Amino acid sequence: MKKLAGLILSTAMVVSMVSGCGVGGSSGSASKSQALSDGVLTVGTNAEFPPFEYVGDDGEPDGFDIALIKAVGEELGVKVVVENMDFDSLVSAIGSKIDVAIAGMTVTEERKQSVDFSESYFDAVQHVLVPAGSDISSKDDLVGKKIGVQLGTTGDFLVEDIEGATAQQYNKAVDAVNDLVNGRVDAVIVDSNPAGVFAKNFEGAIKDLDGADFGFEVENYAIAIPKGDSELKTAIDNALKKLKENGTYDELVKKYI
Ligand code: ARG
Repeated sequence: MKKLAGLILSTAMVVSMVSGCGVGGSSGSASKSQALSDGVLTVGTNAEFPPFEYVGDDGEPDGFDIALIKAVGEELGVKVVVENMDFDSLVSAIGSKIDVAIAGMTVTEERKQSVDFSESYFDAVQHVLVPAGSDISSKDDLVGKKIGVQLGTTGDFLVEDIEGATAQQYNKAVDAVNDLVNGRVDAVIVDSNPAGVFAKNFEGAIKDLDGADFGFEVENYAIAIPKGDSELKTAIDNALKKLKENGTYDELVKKYI
């Protein structure tokens, strides 16, 4: 995949040098999916986000998203290879190092500039974790606070809208939670389901507050796909639909969430 992508990239560069149009220009082949024709779907994730993805006891990525993409791969008749990387590098790796990303990734307008998304497969909202004794309970209470977030996540972007608040960015959300417990940050903003898992792991030490009470909006998770790869998008959307219809999706929800 890597070699092929390099080849495609250099071919595209030659084409763009000759024709003056950039990568993804009007070559006419943008809708053909490389991943589907070479039989291997290389999937990027960031296995730091339970219950959607975490490193299992065997050292391999596991979780709802991983099981879901493997089921999608089976539907497509391709082998799924999972690459664990920083969340912040997933979007830019799509179409080169990886074919697609599944990482509890929220569909955002900004990301849509660089990638396409499958139909959404899960809804979430940001939650606010605070020390058990904290009296933070609304967005106003977060003004001027130091807030721990995972770098490049929607939780990270939300902090920009909170007056005088500073985002303390971490590569792993769990490190933000550890710093919350150690008193180094005032709150952590992280997606609802991981928030629930972290709060349970630190039961008694932290409170898990619903971001709806802070005015945070519902977010939709989807699989990120190379921009313009309509063949892959249609195939993945059809597979997701089938997995919902045949009960596999519900089974995975029951098993992991
Ligand atoms: N939903 C959030 C976002 O899209 C956080 C996702 C973090 N995922 C992960 N695997 N670490 O920005």
